Amino acid sequence: MPAPPVAVISPDDIFSETLSARLERAGCDTQGPAAIEGCASAILAGALFETDPLATSWDLLETARNLRAGGTRELVFLQDTGGCFRFGGDGGWCGGVAGLARTARREWPDMVIRLIDIPAHAMTPDEIGKAVLAGLACGVEEVGICGESDPLIPGHVRASMPGKARLAQEPGTWIVSGGARGVTSDCVMALARRTGGRFALLGRSGLAPWPEGLPQTDDLGELRKKLAQAALAHGEKPRPAEIDAAARHALAGREIRDTLSAIEAAGGEAAYLPCDIADPEAVARAVREAEARFGSVTGLIHGAGVIADRRMSDKTFGDFAKVYRTKIDGLRALLSAVDTSKLTHIALFSSAAAAFGNPGQGDYALANEALNRVAHKLRADLPGARVKSFNWGPWDGGMVSEAHARHFEALGVALIPRPAGADLFAGHLLFGDPDEVELLVGEPWPA
Ligand SMILES: NC(=O)c1ccc[n+]([C@@H]2O[C@H](COP(=O)([O-])OP(=O)(O)OC[C@H]3O[C@@H](n4cnc5c(N)ncnc54)[C@H](OP(=O)(O)O)[C@@H]3O)[C@@H](O)[C@H]2O)c1
Repeated sequence: MPAPPVAVISPDDIFSETLSARLERAGCDTQGPAAIEGCASAILAGALFETDPLATSWDLLETARNLRAGGTRELVFLQDTGGCFRFGGDGGWCGGVAGLARTARREWPDMVIRLIDIPAHAMTPDEIGKAVLAGLACGVEEVGICGESDPLIPGHVRASMPGKARLAQEPGTWIVSGGARGVTSDCVMALARRTGGRFALLGRSGLAPWPEGLPQTDDLGELRKKLAQAALAHGEKPRPAEIDAAARHALAGREIRDTLSAIEAAGGEAAYLPCDIADPEAVARAVREAEARFGSVTGLIHGAGVIADRRMSDKTFGDFAKVYRTKIDGLRALLSAVDTSKLTHIALFSSAAAAFGNPGQGDYALANEALNRVAHKLRADLPGARVKSFNWGPWDGGMVSEAHARHFEALGVALIPRPAGADLFAGHLLFGDPDEVELLVGEPWPA
């Protein structure tokens, strides 16, 4: 039986035609862009073009789901992270495609989803064709093809606690996105316990005071009830959404104050600077304020992140952009605002969703995978800095909802206890092997 026809899809018609011609010469039956409808197999090459990474990533998702709806059963994503799953000519920013492909594989188990990594930025069209053919011939889900080297199958380095060797650490000045709340705050406290230091914590929440006269609680439902009762006692009738917002603000304010106190108690200094990490001007202002107070930034931790779980078939651009911008525009804003030559430590909060894909998290997996790629570029560019991208498995806390916890329990993946995760973070960032840039924390997820 002849192999089913393949469509090559890219934003550049000449590229598509050239690659199609190369595949034809090698005996593949290809169809041009005009005949994409109903093709059995498609090669998606959008990520090789260093244009707008958000628009390109969204376009890949939309194209993939349209192809699926039209009956296509095999998708081959091409990416350029050097052919070795590190970074390509764009510095890794377009390098998240693997996260999308891995999620597609879980959401659409009836399809074949493949990924070929090639150093396209340094190749002629003919070399690209040859590398794609070599990748296809490997017949595996994911492979990197780089020159005459053996094809590379990506793997993951699992983080274990580094040994007890302790180097003296200067107490640094840290800028930490997301550091006042959630699991990043645990990690910052663990750092403060080990090194002291000065911490500027960035987050969107305001420092709301605790509602006067109400008892302290961590329980959102309980606080809503108390706020509603207090409002009634004052003759007010706020809407449930207003009560909910007031309760969440109060809890956020308390969490932030608790983090600041814990850092001080651990021997550090801390300040909270409210700002949206995806807003470069606000980030630049916050960094200036932090430096005026604490001196030049020497450590950068990007822990801010949001999720908007929805299957790829139902994802909206709004969901996608929110998740993507917090991670990617946030990191860009931080790197532009600080003097990177002074950085001694960089930690990025990525996710095991990037390594394994996760249903509902195509955007999140893609953005976190791009963080992993950019981490390698930072390591190459900044030899004086320790760079770590932590691919966290699910924690027992933070953004992990009860539904997430049940999902991981069903998969047999244990949650990371907060104290152990934070300790591992500080240990690796300060003392881990500098060449281990990308770390998987927690158990591998079964296919
Ligand atoms: N928990 C896990 O199991 C897990 C697993 C893998 C990876 N991670 C990663 O670890 C990091 C922390 O996660 P978490 O579980 O602690 O989540 P979380 O409880 O939802 O906390 C997220 C943090 O990010 C901040 N943030 C979100 N959007 C922001 C924005 N636009 N600008 C500034 N700050 C922003 C939040 O503060 P405000 O709300 O005040 O802005 C908060 O401090 C995230 O990057 C996440 O992707 C977590």
